[in-house]
Amino acid sequence: MSEHIAFLSPAYFFVSSQTLYEDMNLSIRVFLILTSVLFCCSAVYNITEKPYVLNIPEGFPQPYIPEDNALTYARIELGKKLFYDTLLSSDRSVSCSSCHLQTMGFTDGKTLSTGVNQRVSDRNGMPLINLAWSNAFFWDGGVPSLELQVLKPLTSPNEMNLPVQEAVNRLNADHVYKKLFKKAYGTNPDAASLFKAIASFERTLISADTKFDAYFYKKDPAAFNESELRGYKLFFGGDKVHCGSCHSGINLTNNSFQNNGLYMEYSDQGRYRITGKESDKGKFKVPTLRNIALTAPYMHDGSLKTLEEVIDHYNTGGISHPNKSEHVHIHKGMKLNTQDKKDLVSFLHTLTDMTFITNKAFRPE
Ligand code: HEC
Ligand code: HEC
Repeated sequence: MSEHIAFLSPAYFFVSSQTLYEDMNLSIRVFLILTSVLFCCSAVYNITEKPYVLNIPEGFPQPYIPEDNALTYARIELGKKLFYDTLLSSDRSVSCSSCHLQTMGFTDGKTLSTGVNQRVSDRNGMPLINLAWSNAFFWDGGVPSLELQVLKPLTSPNEMNLPVQEAVNRLNADHVYKKLFKKAYGTNPDAASLFKAIASFERTLISADTKFDAYFYKKDPAAFNESELRGYKLFFGGDKVHCGSCHSGINLTNNSFQNNGLYMEYSDQGRYRITGKESDKGKFKVPTLRNIALTAPYMHDGSLKTLEEVIDHYNTGGISHPNKSEHVHIHKGMKLNTQDKKDLVSFLHTLTDMTFITNKAFRPE
């Protein structure tokens, strides 16, 4: 045991290299071992010094957080600084926050996002909401962890266009970052801790303070007005539409990939890009609908501008692509009337969380 601790000690390396250790008297050995213990504990203590406990909303399960990236205040603060820093783009003009704005549920309001040199990315930006409960990122779900996800926007030529090594070099040249990485991860800036820090910040972006949560999870029957209640019933239980068969659960998504009948020929084949399966052509991640009133335009290509257009799309039953879900269809003679459509839109507005979009903890000081 004592050998194990001494082995970890820099003092041990120093002493053993001098081959003096065996010759030392007992009190010096004890002293060395004690300083080693203190050193080890303080190193560990610094890193996990202030664990951050996520405030899990009512009705939500515990999220998955990787063991090697437990949340601490230092990691979240570092991740937030990085999220807002244009240093992470090739020409220092774009940060994560350029395309993920808090006031818009961390989207950018554009049909397709623009990165460095006004280059246009090939998809509509996604909201960053309750990501701690997701395990497949991007519209095609091609990336399984929040840590790995950072790599794509950082290096993509249409987003931040910065090679990882260059990002790491820039961070190492900055004495403030060097200090913050030491404090958070006990290391100089490197790729792994860069990804981990940003993922830690992203895990804190929790939204659950809405009328919907008040009604559904907190059981307040007065949370909805009449139109919202009718919209809620149509959305989840109506025989006219089956929104709730895909948009269900804490984030209004069943986390599956579906073709909701936007096109006959998809120029972006979505999930097929990842799996290469014919049956995945035109399938995209069922997106969360939290804060949906703030995240227009809609769909993977931003092709639908308003919630009314989205409802109209579903009300037509969509285009009959071979992979279109059977849940996107219209029953004969059961089309939504004008009031139904209004009620559905009212319900979608109950998913807006003002606390989330004004929370100061999500912005730099
Ligand atoms: C140029 C605009 C742009 C920048 C800069 C950008 N993003 Fe994104 N983000 C997008 C787009 C577009 C998507 C959807 C991409 C796709 O599906 O292929 C996306 C998707 C995501 C997702 C997936 C969300 C989900 O539910 O699957 C996360 C997480 C994310 N971005 C985080 C970040 C982080 C962290 C950074 C900074 C390192 C960043 N983004 C920088 C535009 C951007
Ligand atoms: C078969 C599953 C399914 C059903 C049923 C369904 N959706 Fe969707 N929904 C999706 C998928 C998949 C997407 C993303 C499609 C894309 O981008 O190509 C989506 C996208 C959306 C969007 C845009 C989200 C964004 O961030 O851009 C809204 C709003 C929406 N659906 C609302 C509804 C409503 C309202 C209903 C009921 C009338 C409904 N959905 C029924 C699967 C479904």
